[in-house]
Amino acid sequence: MSGNPFRNDFPVFRTGKYRYMDSAATAQRPDSVIEALKDYYETMNANPLRGLYELSIKATEGYEESRRAAAQLIGAKPGEIIFTRNATESLNLVAYSYAMNFLEPGDEIVTTVMEHHSNMLPWRMAAEKTGAVVRYLTPLSDGTFTEEELSLGITDRTRLVAIGHVSNVLGCENPVKRIAQMAHDKGAVVVVDAAQSVPHMKVDVNELSADFLAFSGHKLMGPFGIGVLFGKEELLDKMPPFLRGGEMIESVSLEGQTWAELPHKFEAGTVNAAGAFGLKSAIDYLNRAGYERIREVEDTLTARLMEGMSRFEYVHIQGPEDPYRHNGIVSFTIDGVHPHDISSILDGSGINIRAGHHCAEPLMKYLKVQSTARASLYLYNDEEDVDALLEAIPRVRRIMGL
Ligand SMILES: Cc1ncc(COP(=O)(O)O)c(C=O)c1O
Repeated sequence: MSGNPFRNDFPVFRTGKYRYMDSAATAQRPDSVIEALKDYYETMNANPLRGLYELSIKATEGYEESRRAAAQLIGAKPGEIIFTRNATESLNLVAYSYAMNFLEPGDEIVTTVMEHHSNMLPWRMAAEKTGAVVRYLTPLSDGTFTEEELSLGITDRTRLVAIGHVSNVLGCENPVKRIAQMAHDKGAVVVVDAAQSVPHMKVDVNELSADFLAFSGHKLMGPFGIGVLFGKEELLDKMPPFLRGGEMIESVSLEGQTWAELPHKFEAGTVNAAGAFGLKSAIDYLNRAGYERIREVEDTLTARLMEGMSRFEYVHIQGPEDPYRHNGIVSFTIDGVHPHDISSILDGSGINIRAGHHCAEPLMKYLKVQSTARASLYLYNDEEDVDALLEAIPRVRRIMGL
């Protein structure tokens, strides 16, 4: 039996088969989230926001309750929460509806070389379409940005700053508050990719001064296919819709149309009501567990993992030396072994970690590696997981003939 009481809430762990350490890619789901999905389809399944009968009204209530839960989680107003498919779609929504309509030739979009492709490619597209220019901030090798780098990058021409809150490779937290202050001083809007932070730490859009903030439900134990975009009301109000069709209008005639109120203007077509309902259950689970407890588990295990890895001279960890700055994410390489081989060999012992470029190819190039292996921890991991990984590392080398 694991010493971690959360673990037993997850059916996948009750099989006793998996030492899952790929939560930065997607988290495991507790019983309560799986039950909530079942409950939705069994007791309230109808097309929400449309029907005037009890089932549909229940579906609508469930959907809007989830919106309130998501809003409360990040300190926003419910009208500022738009449900999307995932963080990627949330960021694209801002690129299409904000950047492509409000940027002009010569304007600058500032982002960083450490971003996930989802927080890089939409901005490049917006730049191509508008004639704006994308500039990249470069961190030091531990993931920190010097004040000089920030002030050289964020200038009078900056109109939009897109910053990851926590790097999915290095694990470090970026100084979003400071960056937002600099961006706002120049009149730019700030888009925060919070895909790797909201599952692990208290995020408050007001405290960060975020104008937009994106995250995915599936990384915080919710269902696949539901994501969140927060946008400040005054910005969302002036933006045109992203997708057009049913549900997002107030009225349509052959001559024209008027848009629905926020947030419905940005939720075209039948919405993912079951996904939202499941997300509410995940948020409830997260709140019951508490960010403090989550942090405690992650910090203890990350320190154990990094300390253990430091005993192998052939293992190299990317990012900060301080385990408490890793937010549960440890990317590493083993001399002489391709990260794909590390992952495949570990799988033989039921240890699940990720290998590859982690959708951050420019960062890989900057770190001068092709790819890395990545262990990412969450509240349900335990010391046995970490110790199994540490014990397997010399075996990986032996199997590769080293
Ligand atoms: C930092 C970061 N941003 C964005 C994303 C994209 O998330 P999704 O694939 O759920 O849209 C990820 C996913 O790994 C991520 O780690």
